[in-house]
Amino acid sequence: MTPAPLFVRFVASDDGPWSVVSNRTVTGPGLPDAAAVTVIEGRDSVPDATDAAWSLSGVVSNERYVTRAERAALEARQQPLGRADATAAALIPIRKSPRWWQLTQDERRDIFEERSHHVRIGVGALPAVARRLHHSRDLCEPFDFLTWFEFAPSQVEEFDEVLAVLRASEEWTYVEREVEIRLTRS
Ligand code: HEM
Repeated sequence: MTPAPLFVRFVASDDGPWSVVSNRTVTGPGLPDAAAVTVIEGRDSVPDATDAAWSLSGVVSNERYVTRAERAALEARQQPLGRADATAAALIPIRKSPRWWQLTQDERRDIFEERSHHVRIGVGALPAVARRLHHSRDLCEPFDFLTWFEFAPSQVEEFDEVLAVLRASEEWTYVEREVEIRLTRS
């Protein structure tokens, strides 16, 4: 069952549960440095973020591309966020180009999976990596997506490998802004 939309905000400031290990600009303009990131779920509990270095919002929404068979493959392997040993995380905000958004849904699906194999590649990183995709474009945010991943520090190579393969895919030729923030929590 598709859950109800969940509003999520990532707030970067001096302290918070996730300490920033690195803040790397991959494509386009970067984000200011900050010591920590707090992940706030829900609209009601959003505090004033005037002290924040930056704050990015997104919504956990319905899927756009997966087929029934792909969803089944994902559900068979995927793990929830918040596992005790998953003390490493990556927040990767991404914006795609107008060229991408001008395509039709079937053309985007074709590039996303038939030609770039995003899900097939991604499933290879499960169950080591837990993930959550946040949609930001319809909130008129600076990024279209806020992608969030959690894993044990010992699984970092598995994550890095998937990241490298995806970045070499045709889908990524449509990425015009990308920032990679690595985090750790105790
Ligand atoms: C860890 C393994 C991964 C899995 C299993 C995975 C799986 C998926 C799936 C199933 C979707 C489509 C959801 C839908 O139907 O709308 C998706 C979308 C997306 N993923 Fe991944 N992914 C993985 C890794 C990554 C990584 C490392 C990145 C970023 C560097 C990433 C960025 C995105 C983005 C930006 C979208 C939205 C694409 C769009 O709607 O245009 N994914 N992912």
